[in-house]
Amino acid sequence: MLSIDPKEISPAKLQGYLQSAVAPRPIAFASTLDLNGNPNLSPFSFFNVFSSNPPILIFSPARRVRDNTIKHTLINAQNTNEVVINIVNYDIVQQMSLSSTEYPDGVNEFEKAGFTMLPSDIVKPFRVAESPVQFECKINDIIALGDQGGAGNLIICEVVKIHIHESILDENQMIDQRKIDVVSRLGGNWYSRANAGLFEVEKPLTTLGIGVDSIPNFIKESGYFNGNDLGKLGNIEAIPNEEEITIFVKENFEVKAVLSSDDFDTKFTKAKEYLDNNQVLNAWKLLLAEK
Ligand SMILES: Cc1cc2nc3c(=O)[nH]c(=O)nc-3n(C[C@H](O)[C@H](O)[C@H](O)COP(=O)(O)O)c2cc1C
Repeated sequence: MLSIDPKEISPAKLQGYLQSAVAPRPIAFASTLDLNGNPNLSPFSFFNVFSSNPPILIFSPARRVRDNTIKHTLINAQNTNEVVINIVNYDIVQQMSLSSTEYPDGVNEFEKAGFTMLPSDIVKPFRVAESPVQFECKINDIIALGDQGGAGNLIICEVVKIHIHESILDENQMIDQRKIDVVSRLGGNWYSRANAGLFEVEKPLTTLGIGVDSIPNFIKESGYFNGNDLGKLGNIEAIPNEEEITIFVKENFEVKAVLSSDDFDTKFTKAKEYLDNNQVLNAWKLLLAEK
């Protein structure tokens, strides 16, 4: 195990470790105006949603590690208290990256990166027309986290209007997680495209799971199941009773065959297959069934 005291490595190296480990991070594509009304557009992956009532988004333009200077977005936020946070999807990831180029003050990154400026309803900064979701925000507070290179500045934004492209909505007018096609940032040059590797994890809140500690040792220590499998087995409300197991075996020829084979391996392999297909109760019943 490599153990690191953050004070003993360079800020640049520390930033590398932090950004590669705390990943993937969503990207706030922040549109602001300077005091002369010039548009500015830059991406920030130190970003997330922190409250829904009130709706609060926070992102953090850091002081540059290189020379401890601050970014135009921070200056504009301090001067105007308004920002539009645009969400980045796969279709605009290359242009978004281009816009992060450190152009001089006053250069319009909408133009440099080829985006369309869409007027907002409530705040003055423009929206990115090509972005699937655009949040118009008033800035409630800015908290500086330090005065050295690398120090973040939390820009606390209250959402006052949300615009969502119709094309990413489902039949209930909610955002379709596959259609939005969001991208996020990891360390170095790495990005991740969420819908290329989407999978669901059933929330434990609807049911009170029995917990991994309640799984019998002969299952836990069998060597057939990994942590995800045990998590699924522990997320059931109650272990199937004898009657349920008997019915399951009776009605299922394949299971009968597995049980009659006398082969421990066949039984556990089949249970693992049930788990892979999210048929968790079937896995339980098979594991607990006697020959
Ligand atoms: C995907 C991505 C995420 C970024 N995230 C951050 C961030 O969270 N904080 C930061 O200070 N800079 C971040 N940057 C770098 C800024 O976008 C870059 O410094 C930009 O030029 C700042 O522009 P400005 O001076 O116009 O505000 C990121 C760049 C990219 C491409």
